[in-house]
Amino acid sequence: MILPISIIGTAVLRKKAETINNDYPELKQLIADMFETMYKTDGVGLAAPQVGLAIRLFVVDAGPMTDDDNDTFTKSFKRAFINPEIVEYFGDKVSYNEGCLSIPGLHEDVDRPDGVKIRYYDENFQLQEETLTGACARVVQHEYDHLDGILFTDKVGMLRRKMIKNKLSNISKGKFEHRYKVKLA
Ligand code: NI
Repeated sequence: MILPISIIGTAVLRKKAETINNDYPELKQLIADMFETMYKTDGVGLAAPQVGLAIRLFVVDAGPMTDDDNDTFTKSFKRAFINPEIVEYFGDKVSYNEGCLSIPGLHEDVDRPDGVKIRYYDENFQLQEETLTGACARVVQHEYDHLDGILFTDKVGMLRRKMIKNKLSNISKGKFEHRYKVKLA
């Protein structure tokens, strides 16, 4: 089932999301719905708050982020992350042009560390730990921020942030090209 996407301005996007247990109702179905929604909207990541749920869960598929067919790790980086914890950030800060399904039509350069070490439960509630760099680390950091109520626009430079203020306000009022079902505040 395709879920409506909460747009910037909705309260759930600014909440600190709660950890969940393995008896969370219909978790498998929720994860399947989140993947379906992410693919349908051409996203590479989707966090639960973006579908109205303040829980610590996100899904990613970084495949479309690389054109390098030899980079099989990124090509097949499809995961569900439950109760994730970034335990280490490392590497140089890298700039990358980010977008977000909750902020349609806006793309801005964001600096983030090149690498992270992340601990999380997978969709079978097995504890995993991975060290990621490049596109995989980028999408994971963006989605992880969603669980703490942080949006990528919070991380752009101060001048740029001032320049996009009106644009963000318009987006929150629904003034953007509607390509998928959304929920406004
Ligand atoms: Ni996002």
